[in-house]
Amino acid sequence: MAEPGQPRENWGSKIGVILAVSGSAVGLGNFLRFPVQAAGHGGGAFMIPYFLAFLLLGIPIAWVEWTMGRYGGRRGHGTAPGVYHVISGGKRWAKYLGLFAVLGPLGIFFYYSYIEGWTLAYAFFSLTGQYQALQDPQAMRSFLAGFQGVETNSYFNGPWVAYAAFAVVYVINFYFIYRGVTRGIERLNKIALPIMVLIACLLLVRVATLGAPHSDRPGQNFINGLGFMWNPDFSALKDASVWLAAAGQIFFTLSVGLGSIMAYASYLKARDDVALSSLTSNSTNEFFEVILAGSIVIPASFMFFGAMGAQQVAQGGSFDLGFVTMPLIFNQMSGGTYIGFLWFLLLFLAGITSSVSLVQPLITFVEDELKLTRQQSVVAIGVLGFAVTNFIIFTLAQGSLDEVDFWAGTLLPVLNAFLEVAIFAWFFGLTRGFREFDLGADLRIPRFFGFVIRYITPAFLLAILLVWSIQQGWPILTLKNVRPEHRDVIWVTRIILLSVLLLLLWLLVIARRRGRFIKPEEQR
Ligand code: ALA
Repeated sequence: MAEPGQPRENWGSKIGVILAVSGSAVGLGNFLRFPVQAAGHGGGAFMIPYFLAFLLLGIPIAWVEWTMGRYGGRRGHGTAPGVYHVISGGKRWAKYLGLFAVLGPLGIFFYYSYIEGWTLAYAFFSLTGQYQALQDPQAMRSFLAGFQGVETNSYFNGPWVAYAAFAVVYVINFYFIYRGVTRGIERLNKIALPIMVLIACLLLVRVATLGAPHSDRPGQNFINGLGFMWNPDFSALKDASVWLAAAGQIFFTLSVGLGSIMAYASYLKARDDVALSSLTSNSTNEFFEVILAGSIVIPASFMFFGAMGAQQVAQGGSFDLGFVTMPLIFNQMSGGTYIGFLWFLLLFLAGITSSVSLVQPLITFVEDELKLTRQQSVVAIGVLGFAVTNFIIFTLAQGSLDEVDFWAGTLLPVLNAFLEVAIFAWFFGLTRGFREFDLGADLRIPRFFGFVIRYITPAFLLAILLVWSIQQGWPILTLKNVRPEHRDVIWVTRIILLSVLLLLLWLLVIARRRGRFIKPEEQR
């Protein structure tokens, strides 16, 4: 644990940091977001923009983040404000731009921990058979709405159950964060990741061996379910929004452009490998996402509800899939209470290994730049996060969660990734960049990635930002599609996010006044 004036912590082992970054990547996005995105955007055809984004954005940006994090960590800076400062050679503006990569993950954390609470609560509901009698989507949706507190009904009266689950999850998150990188985060991931592989494989085997669950509809079997998921509809590729969705999914699922990987990598030792470790974490994530999640969720929906039903599932969104469709499927399986428990336990573990990484950048920021102790950091950030999440919980139905997700989970990662890559390629330079990639490396990064990082990745990112601005930017900014009675809440949500950004700016100014950002060559 970093006390003022003490050296920064290091990861206990190579496998520890790989599992920690994999745990950050494998999250609710893999199991709930990916199947909906793929099935809703052309099935197998979606994998073309998806893999292009993986190769040209995900892999290079992750390399850059790992490398920048390790470089900054050796100089006492583990988050983007300090890392951009040293990487850019002390440019005055660089540290301010870094604030977006502290705000982004924190913003996601504000709502992520609440959803994580749902998964824990539903694991409990599964085991105790609380939703077992519900057989139609309407009833299951009502159950969820009562649980969330957005509807008063006979299942739940008010959001207190979801609130209690959130409170438990919140404390667990900060417990691991408080214990530090090695004794907290590394240990959590070393236990959780193997369990997640095991559960996901068990679920896959269960779905694959179901045969055709309805004897009168033999076509609704696993193979045809895979066909439904993966048969390509190439006409989808003409739509720019499909390309945006694929790039967005890559950012969210790999946790790139957030600032989390940078913070984790800052705890590496000077000669710890980044090249192969980064690729291993990315591959682990893709195994979970494409192979495991891609073969379980939508194929199972097809087997139980047919092509029309599965189509509706894909259009219903992530929450509907996880908390309505999947429970309905479990209710029709033998041993469904246990399978349901395993599914929600998997989501919970996937969630917590990601959420600790979302709050870590701000912890690292205040420890590095303001020299707060771990205890002070955890209390201050715990209180701030608790207040904002409470606002989101009580204004969920008015769209506050979606609003925060849009800024923190969709737009900022693209912007952050652009800043990271541009500062790395254009100010640090690729000669030094490759020297850093190669330091202690277990894999030599192919040299053509220099061209990709310098030109293709930034151009791809700029194109995404441009197309987004033209297609969706203005209506979103001006709340065109928001119901008039929800507009006040959306504005308050924006004001809260802006206030958090200003708070971070204020902390940065304090750190600057204390001499944390003198020019690198002036540092002894
Ligand atoms: N990468 C994390 C997820 O996929 C945030 O949920």
